[in-house]
Amino acid sequence: RTKRLAISAEPAALDPTQLPNVTLTSYTKSKASQELIQNALLENDFMKHLEVGQILAIVDCMHLTTISQGCCVIKEGDDGSLVYVLEEGKVEVTKEGHKLCTMGPGKIFGELAVLYNCTRAATVTALTDIKLWTINRQCFQTIMMRTGLIRHSQHMEFLPSLKTARYADGDYIIRQGATGDTFFIISEGQVSIPVGRKLDLAVTVTLPSPWPLSREDVRTASVIAVGDVTCLVVDRELEAEAAFFSSLS
Ligand code: CMP
Repeated sequence: RTKRLAISAEPAALDPTQLPNVTLTSYTKSKASQELIQNALLENDFMKHLEVGQILAIVDCMHLTTISQGCCVIKEGDDGSLVYVLEEGKVEVTKEGHKLCTMGPGKIFGELAVLYNCTRAATVTALTDIKLWTINRQCFQTIMMRTGLIRHSQHMEFLPSLKTARYADGDYIIRQGATGDTFFIISEGQVSIPVGRKLDLAVTVTLPSPWPLSREDVRTASVIAVGDVTCLVVDRELEAEAAFFSSLS
């Protein structure tokens, strides 16, 4: 078994403690390149669950580099610092000297070490002259972290305005025909929604928690606690605010 001896073209991994100071630089690229990167991210099992905003930020920050035929792009066992999307050309992936696969335009590689903070799982070599889009670990992690921090602070602003309401068995949480401008999220317990006028015809629904209950002006059905129930109560104004925040992230 021959072990490939290669010197990777990749820069050394950067210091993760520098993260908060990273300035994200955007690099202009054609619509076709933007789509190629975006589709590459969406096709990749490890990246496809990223939020749209994160994908667009990654597309924006990627910049173009070229590597000559025969050069080692990634060396197995190295500390990885870059994620790559192939724009042009072909690369070969090997592990312990054995060929795993070849990859062409529109494919991502190098994501594993950056996503999971581990060493490179395989060696990647340019089979032709190649053009690659790259993003470094710090930019990548900053995009992940900033989105998380923004969402966290939005939640922190929103949460104090949420009220908790507790109900005992048989309490009406909502009365049919009443007006109301709040909606409820069942946090704990079960509720029943009576069908017709008699309570004994009630269907007991076990709604997954959390579950939103009624946001109508006029309540179209009653909702009654079965055993102890805890609900989060959201005002209509806050509901719009919550929707606005979630559209940003
Ligand atoms: P990473 O471990 O960061 O660096 C080597 C890259 O090769 C790896 O991420 C993957 O993107 C890519 N690769 C492609 N096929 C494989 C495979 N079968 N096993 C490991 N890595 C692979």
